[in-house]
Amino acid sequence: YGRAAAAAPAPWWRAARPRLLKLAAERSPRYVYHLPTVRAHARALRASGVIDRLYYAVKANPHPVLLRALAEEGLGFECVSPGELAAVAANVPASAPRLFTPNFAPRGDYAEALADGILTTLDALHPLQHWGRLFKGREIALRVDLGRGLGHHDKVRTGGEGSKFGLPLDQLDAFLALADDCGARLRGLHAHLGSGILDAAHWGEVYAQLASLAERIGSIEFLNVGGGLGVPAHPDDLPLDVHAVMRHLAEVKRAYPQYALWMEPGRYLVAEAGVLLARVTQDKRKGAAHYLGADAGMNSLIRPALYAAWHEIVNLSRLDAEADTLYQVVGPICETGDVLGSDRRLPASAEGDVLLIANAGAYGAAMASRYNLREPAEETVIE
Ligand code: LLP
Repeated sequence: YGRAAAAAPAPWWRAARPRLLKLAAERSPRYVYHLPTVRAHARALRASGVIDRLYYAVKANPHPVLLRALAEEGLGFECVSPGELAAVAANVPASAPRLFTPNFAPRGDYAEALADGILTTLDALHPLQHWGRLFKGREIALRVDLGRGLGHHDKVRTGGEGSKFGLPLDQLDAFLALADDCGARLRGLHAHLGSGILDAAHWGEVYAQLASLAERIGSIEFLNVGGGLGVPAHPDDLPLDVHAVMRHLAEVKRAYPQYALWMEPGRYLVAEAGVLLARVTQDKRKGAAHYLGADAGMNSLIRPALYAAWHEIVNLSRLDAEADTLYQVVGPICETGDVLGSDRRLPASAEGDVLLIANAGAYGAAMASRYNLREPAEETVIE
């Protein structure tokens, strides 16, 4: 590390266009994931060697082929539900490290994970106060709230006032006393402030804060600085400088070599590897608006409706034609919010054209639903 971030290369889907057009002609809407891109992102994070253990945040995309590839790349897995733990158990070797990091989960979820020997992170007093027996003799981690949240939207900031996550630091002494009473062995500290963070200094700051807390506590062996590594929405935006992230972390690590450094990214590993392919259904003018209908709606990709997230949209059938028409790109779902992209310049498009919605590999299929009893886009993985 130490180099400046390289200029963003052309996205993989440009070279894969003929294949993608064929896939969309067979069936649409359709998510397509490019496995080499997932592997490349995993290697980019591992390359510096600063991070001792990387856990993939399964919630971003639990597709079995992606889980297997990431296990092959040496990653562990961070899960938030029994379903995610089961998906990992079914697809990756038992030797891959796993973490259970639930929030407001019922007692049974903890009992199940602990019975399977999975390292569990707590972020409240309640589990120790009411289910103390479960934790006797167990190694646990503690997620703390460092008092602030970050991220691409209010709904994904997971720290500070108004967020339900993490133990407030004024309850730390009570937590330590309870852990002692229950015979739980606190081995790690964790913080995750939010999703879609593009400030390279962020994780080093969290690391330093956790390290100084760990010095006070004494029994800590690892510090988990969470995920949240952002991927810019606009193709012209600067990507997160991963080398700079590693430089900041390495600097803190020199001061606290006694603690292993863990990280749990989701989006960074899979977002750019995924596209959503949809076909144009209808064209309609209404008032000042020119609507372009797609056969994928908010039931396949809810991010624009939920977070006003911006995803690049191109007409893959007319990739080199002049983008001279201003469209509102909408889906077939019965809600006014069923918009994939507002005010998008595209070539004049016709029924059957294939639209490609980029950066859809993270929190796309994972958040899909059967709303309106429309099946969400199916998923295909390509090499
Ligand atoms: N660790 C914890 C404890 C988390 O809660 C999350 C994400 C991650 C790691 C991974 O964060 P990532 O590296 O993917 O940013 N649906 C939203 C994102 C919600 C993220 C929830 N937690 C979206 O589509 O933007």
